[in-house]
Amino acid sequence: MMETDIDKRGKFIVFEGGEGSGKSSISKWLVERLASEGHMVRWTREPGGSPFAEKIRTLILSDDARHADAETLFALFLAARRDHLKQTIIPHLEVGASVISDRFMSSTWAYQLVAQEQPQLRELFHQMHAHYLDGLEPHYVFLDVPPEVGLRRAKSRPEATTHFDERDVAFHTRVRDGFLEFFSTIPKERITVIDAHEPLERVQERAHATVRSIIG
Ligand code: TMP
Repeated sequence: MMETDIDKRGKFIVFEGGEGSGKSSISKWLVERLASEGHMVRWTREPGGSPFAEKIRTLILSDDARHADAETLFALFLAARRDHLKQTIIPHLEVGASVISDRFMSSTWAYQLVAQEQPQLRELFHQMHAHYLDGLEPHYVFLDVPPEVGLRRAKSRPEATTHFDERDVAFHTRVRDGFLEFFSTIPKERITVIDAHEPLERVQERAHATVRSIIG
């Protein structure tokens, strides 16, 4: 990060969860609610969140990517993240806006390193993110839902499913294990786990209370 007065920077909050956890709709709802309460807050997502990273997203989710190996996908997710940080996340934080991102580096840990079983990438993961983040410390909100329930929800949505959604329950169980493993390494004050199996209004209220307490 640049040498902006640390107190003036916005907060960076990441919503995470497996397929069908509701994180996209809940994080979008939350940004609208916070804006209506007068907070300066920007919604964004990964992969994507900047014009160039959205192009990489299209590549990653395309049918051709079904045949790409996990290391290729890892490199693409990181390239997209670098651009997203430089073009969107950091500039917003530096003018005092808070940023809420639907997915971030925790997804790479859960999907590529754990679910796609690439433990050899762990050291590279840490090195690259230490370099990219340069001291930036995200807060995480994890919407936890049993993988079978999430997958059922994801498949009943009107939007097209991706090649990740189509993997089996064992894959999505490893994704959840990967998230839990990643979050076990984050200081407690920077991670909130919400039971996303509860009624939507309850999940929304908990997400709102959590983020309000972060952004003040
Ligand atoms: P989305 O459906 O939440 O928009 O995300 C697209 C897919 O990309 C989703 O199945 C999870 C996957 N993904 C990874 O595998 N690694 C990553 O680092 C990120 C950000 C997403």
